[in-house]
Amino acid sequence: MKKIVFVTLCLFASVYCRLQIPKGFKFGVATAAYQVEGGWNQDGKGENIWDRYTHTHKDQIKDHSNGDIACDSYHLWRKDVELLEELGVDFYRFSLSWSRILPTGFSNKINKAGVDYYNETINLLISKNIEPMVTLYHWDLPQPLQDLGGWTNSLITDYFEDYARVAFTLFGDRVKLWITINEPASICIDTYENGNGAPGIKSPGLGSYLCGKNILLAHAKAYRLYQADFKNTQQGKVGITIDSIWAEPKSKSQQDQDASDREMQMSFGWYAHPIFSRKGHYPDVMIERIDALSVRQNFTRSRLPSFSAQEIKLLRGSADFLGLNHYHTWLVTSKNFTSNDISFLADKGTILEKDPSWKDPEILPWGFTKLLSWIKDQYDNPLVYITENGIGDTTGTLNDTHRIEFIQEYVKAVLIAINTYECNVSRYTVWSLMDNMEWNQGYTIKFGIYQVDFHSPARTRSEKKSAVFYKGLIMSTELD
Ligand code: NOJ
Repeated sequence: MKKIVFVTLCLFASVYCRLQIPKGFKFGVATAAYQVEGGWNQDGKGENIWDRYTHTHKDQIKDHSNGDIACDSYHLWRKDVELLEELGVDFYRFSLSWSRILPTGFSNKINKAGVDYYNETINLLISKNIEPMVTLYHWDLPQPLQDLGGWTNSLITDYFEDYARVAFTLFGDRVKLWITINEPASICIDTYENGNGAPGIKSPGLGSYLCGKNILLAHAKAYRLYQADFKNTQQGKVGITIDSIWAEPKSKSQQDQDASDREMQMSFGWYAHPIFSRKGHYPDVMIERIDALSVRQNFTRSRLPSFSAQEIKLLRGSADFLGLNHYHTWLVTSKNFTSNDISFLADKGTILEKDPSWKDPEILPWGFTKLLSWIKDQYDNPLVYITENGIGDTTGTLNDTHRIEFIQEYVKAVLIAINTYECNVSRYTVWSLMDNMEWNQGYTIKFGIYQVDFHSPARTRSEKKSAVFYKGLIMSTELD
């Protein structure tokens, strides 16, 4: 019987039978608290920045919606675990809502109902042999902390450490994979540079770097805390998830090659370099450019806040793995901004384009292989977990063959990175388990391999074709 299933699966997903999937390689799916939980003000949960923003800035959300109910996972979490079991995933990546556990953001008051919710979810996952991979921060900052400056107030690094301590203490006996922060660049750019996300602050070329410094230090403090007080007893791993495009040079010219390198260094390297390079600081090109521009723009100090020797020590090597979110490949070319332009974009001096010759600009898996091999070369082949990869659409169709093609080709790209370039990658995660609240896009973009009916109070989940495909792929790895 097993053999018949195996042969069928090989026909179904023939590519995986040819490309070796390394033993022990794990597959999972991901969600994030604000995007799926709902129950925004239930059972003692505090208000977070996305609650506030969606309620006060309706017009900033494409369909004027919010995450008040979302997928209602606060009530339907048992159903979610059923879907995970049905898929046969090895692990489930989800995030904790800081304000569900600590309603004000501060650790003086713990909300028991919130703790119970996560305990029950974790326990059920473990009973089904699904490993929890938990993100501490996936963009939903408690509003009272934002009122004090949020990620631009350097004291937040201590408050985040306090929150991490609470989470490690409460759940660390069972959770062995921790991601401190999800996509720092998205947080800092959307929140404090261009104001496109909650809480919508615009401070080009200033706020994002301040936020970035604090995010990095908050991560490092949580990592060091785990090492000092929890590692011995809990034996888990702590990492950070950084997102990255692959920046393909537009031409072979030196100028475009340099632009591509600069784009990678000043976006991904901004966060990866301080943690994963031997230097423990931002990439040289980033420091040089922003320092020089700041002088020309008459700033008394560089717009890029530096790290002290002590902070460098804290940051360098502060991760057991690199979580990587990848979605897109872009062509990169350089652009001269005037020295009066103050922004993250102007600092990089690059522009991104899509190549008109690309058949489907959303599906460019070769960029993923290039990105993984670039990371290997830059950072001495760190342990990488792909913590998000996926494709959105506007229809939410169950017949999502484009998503099957995407997952198939991107997993293949990861396997090439492992088998041909010897990249140290051991997990792959689809974003997302189910359609959910896509931030400023509301419910207009759907990434799920399960459909959610947002018009029905029951929030019915239905299997898409991509879920069936993913299930087959995971099963095929268990048969050798
Ligand atoms: C990145 C984010 O981590 C996630 O929250 C978002 O929904 C997906 N990418 C898709 O845009």
